[in-house]
Amino acid sequence: MSEPRVRVLLEPGWETGSIADDVRRGLSRYPRTLPPRWLYDDHGSALFDRITRLPEYYPFLAERAILEAHADEIVTASGATALVELGSGTSEKTRLLLDAFTRSGQLTRFAPVDVSEGTLRTAADQIAERYPSLEVVAVVGDFTLHLAHLPEGGRRMVAFLGGTIGNLYLEERRAFLGALADVLEPGDSVLLGTDLVKSADRLIAAYDDSQGVTEAFIRNALVVVNRELGGDFDPDAFSYIPFWDPHMERMDLRLRAEVPQRVSVPGADVVLDLAMGEEIRIEISTKFRISRIAAELEAAGLGVARVWTDEAGDFALTLAVKA
Ligand code: SAH
Ligand code: AVI
Repeated sequence: MSEPRVRVLLEPGWETGSIADDVRRGLSRYPRTLPPRWLYDDHGSALFDRITRLPEYYPFLAERAILEAHADEIVTASGATALVELGSGTSEKTRLLLDAFTRSGQLTRFAPVDVSEGTLRTAADQIAERYPSLEVVAVVGDFTLHLAHLPEGGRRMVAFLGGTIGNLYLEERRAFLGALADVLEPGDSVLLGTDLVKSADRLIAAYDDSQGVTEAFIRNALVVVNRELGGDFDPDAFSYIPFWDPHMERMDLRLRAEVPQRVSVPGADVVLDLAMGEEIRIEISTKFRISRIAAELEAAGLGVARVWTDEAGDFALTLAVKA
């Protein structure tokens, strides 16, 4: 087996520096927010992995079913010789694509990109061992900042799976897709996983699971802020409030102060007086309609080539090509 190469694009101190900026900015506006990329420390990544095994969390199962049924078609339609994966996490479902690429014999390089260094390194090691003929280049980086530094060469397909694009706000999605299109060459493609609009009951069940794993994942945001910035949030002084926003067509995952409290976050130079009932938004998870996915991709200069959904129509994978 050849060892994966690891490129670290995040500068030393990046975490503390940008978490401080994000926390200062997010906590000073209404609703107060904490940006979701900080959910994925080692504990958060492990909790997300548990979420993907919950029976209520259909997005993982639905996207996996699409890949099981259509990975060969996707690979052929892309014509790719290099696969880049953004927000790759454990790259578990990606193996279905790598297996299809192995059957077609067309792939030479796999480049997973994630901010969560430990999870990324473990995944890259396992993939290099399982696919010995692939060159594996793992990139520790932020997909909102480092797209210009993705490994180049060959015809690239950039996979962005799991519905993670739905964790970005509309203006962030626009900036992200525009920046991605800018770095692609004509003929390169994007494989975008998006969760689709469905009944509020199923959505709430997926984000308020009976074992409380999602709640622990969301609450972990406060633990990360305490550890990185010396904050004194008491996670138990908040209740978990997940709700479906039908106007914005997104899940809105918040923590609500159960008692009035003063919270200090010295590393971000923040002192916060929270009234009882005040909420902090930790994450949004936008759900899409096919027409909206196509419109957002096409506005960025990425032409939709094919869309696949699972049988129930819960999730979509869209292949879009740079003109
Ligand atoms: N793609 C996997 C994991 C989804 S979880 C799946 O479909 O199951 C979201 C992943 O994105 C996590 O691994 C997290 O660490 C990563 N992530 C979140 N924000 C990021 C950012 N700004 N840049 C790079 N990776 C990010
Ligand atoms: C990574 N992302 C697509 C997940 C989602 O469904 O929005 C994160 C998550 N948050 C709570 N559960 C899962």
